[in-house]
Amino acid sequence: LGAGVRGRDLAGCRVVVSAGGTREPLDPVRFLGNRSSGRQGDAIAAAAAARGVDVTLVAAHVEVQLPPVDRLVRVGTAAQLREAVLAAAEGADAVVMAAAVADFAPRARSDTKIKKSDDASEVPVVELERTPDVLAELVRTRRGGAGARPVLVGFAAETGDETGDVLAHGRAKLARKGCDLLVVNEVGEQRGFGTATNAVVVLGADGGEREVAETSKDVVAEAVLDAVVPMLAARPA
Ligand code: CTP
Ligand code: CA
Repeated sequence: LGAGVRGRDLAGCRVVVSAGGTREPLDPVRFLGNRSSGRQGDAIAAAAAARGVDVTLVAAHVEVQLPPVDRLVRVGTAAQLREAVLAAAEGADAVVMAAAVADFAPRARSDTKIKKSDDASEVPVVELERTPDVLAELVRTRRGGAGARPVLVGFAAETGDETGDVLAHGRAKLARKGCDLLVVNEVGEQRGFGTATNAVVVLGADGGEREVAETSKDVVAEAVLDAVVPMLAARPA
């Protein structure tokens, strides 16, 4: 798509973007978090706003300045992110889940600061519980089922391992999650999290596959939005 076309192809649509890393409190001063900077989600929100999209940005912990959007909702935990995203997804044309949502949270949160004991061998054991899977819930509760709006976009930060490479994990995750698009990127110490650039493959539930070689997160953002366009066209409002 040329820049001129790209500028208008999503104008007037309503898109929800989640960004950043959730934080699950252990006590009033401590949390379990992750290394997401929020940059990729913010870039998507900014790119969408520049295309004339009505953007709701649900931002967990981000390390960048947030772009101007139509609605900004700040959240802390996965549970709060769930509430905000599900509410904003009502009537939306697309939901882009770029947030790094905690998979586990401490089962119990201490209301007071956890103190060290005098006995140095005594350490607290933190029991974890699963958090709600927001994307899976969006898929499950979408009125009209697959093929209806909103178009649901997931992100997968993967590392290859003995059971498969990054793409194999991505394809399996797309099938497991049931979303329409999955943006797969390889993460490691120096890749993905916190960096200004990203290299991704955008996988479509329709079998589509588009590779975006190492580039700025802004260019990746445009590619993600470009992939949403034909999916929306196939689903009447
Ligand atoms: N996601 C979500 N709610 C969660 C966990 C993840 O909505 N509790 C979303 C993320 O925002 C992302 C997608 O699901 O868009 C994939 O997240 P990822 O962590 O890669 O996948 P998981 O299903 O959590 O599987 P795992 O971490 O075990 O690989
Ligand atoms: Ca996860």
